[in-house]
Amino acid sequence: MSVRKRLDEICDIGRDPVHGGYSRHLLEPAELALREWFCRSAAELDLTVETDGNGNLWAWWGEPGPGTIATGSHLDSVPGGGAFDGPLGVASALEAVALLRAEAWVPARPIAVCAFAEEEGSRFGVPCLGTRLLVGDITPQTALALTDREGVTLEDAWREVSMDVSRVGPDPGRVALLDALVELHVEQGLDLEKRGLPLAVGSAIMAHGRWRLTITGEGNHAGTTPMGERRDPVVAASAAALAVRDVAVERPAARGTVGRISVTPNGTNVIASRVEAWLDIRADSDTAVRAQFEATVALIRTCVAAEGCALDVHEESFSPLVSFDGPLTARVAELLGGVPAIPTGAGHDAGILASHVPTTMVFVRNPTGVSHAPGETAREEDCEEGARGLAVVLRELAGAQAP
Ligand code: GLV
Ligand code: MN
Ligand code: MN
Repeated sequence: MSVRKRLDEICDIGRDPVHGGYSRHLLEPAELALREWFCRSAAELDLTVETDGNGNLWAWWGEPGPGTIATGSHLDSVPGGGAFDGPLGVASALEAVALLRAEAWVPARPIAVCAFAEEEGSRFGVPCLGTRLLVGDITPQTALALTDREGVTLEDAWREVSMDVSRVGPDPGRVALLDALVELHVEQGLDLEKRGLPLAVGSAIMAHGRWRLTITGEGNHAGTTPMGERRDPVVAASAAALAVRDVAVERPAARGTVGRISVTPNGTNVIASRVEAWLDIRADSDTAVRAQFEATVALIRTCVAAEGCALDVHEESFSPLVSFDGPLTARVAELLGGVPAIPTGAGHDAGILASHVPTTMVFVRNPTGVSHAPGETAREEDCEEGARGLAVVLRELAGAQAP
């Protein structure tokens, strides 16, 4: 087949007519259809598929066992996301296996092709939820109580698809089977396009935190409430969004974003009673993220108080800075022909697993540099080169018995 054909097979699953692009959220119909596609594709390659207790899919070439070389990515998307963020890594991993099968090559160690659950955190708020649960970075109790936009808990969503909630939680035995993880991903920037190169390996992931801000004011009538007598949380949230930007621009390499806002009750002629706004902060160290958060929230408190509103701040997730495994990254870079190592500001399951397993990433050039939006893209020839490169990497890493 080809990576393109594999992506074509899923190109109609989860299209979002409202936002454009794709909305493929954990355990919703589109994501379930992608899981079925994954199982079918893996079965065609004679891989044995299992779902772990945390909803991550594992397609095994060989008996699951120590010394496993894992690859893959995720199938879920942000709301109105692109076609490549996640699925490119899964389709490329399947294609790499197909290329190796076509050579009649047989791995000396198990190979696992993975599709990790809820990487974006778009349904339940916590990114990389499947891998965080796997390694024990979040407790099952906390995870199962998370709610989606409709108030459905993860536990209810899990039960709805007959998953066994008693299996949710850390799985150190499974993690211990892994000797390496190589996640291929579309690049989410223009570095490779500027360098004129199709591929790179990952060097690091920026530290990243997400917080939910709840701003409470007083609901009232838009026509009868004098301007001086309002406590309007939309005004406070607007000032807060500016504060996020103003703090971030003062700090080199920092990012600060409010990308999601929910207004209650959201009526044209109604002064809102409450706003929830989600704050996403990234920087080049954990302490830099914390310091940026403190400075941002101090400014937001002032804006909220000036409007007579109240503020509640809840941390939804914190992802420390990740440096990928040096020797593995160097080896993969060499196997790909001496490609550069580049850092990224985007989060990945590879980042969660990196503190437990030697891990690295392969990035595929994105001509627009756009990601988390319909404009995300990758050239066909670069995608095929990525899969061929991944096949070379798997042949090398899984070609020799584990010591
Ligand atoms: C996921 O892609 C993230 O970086 O938030
Ligand atoms: Mn993403
Ligand atoms: Mn991704």
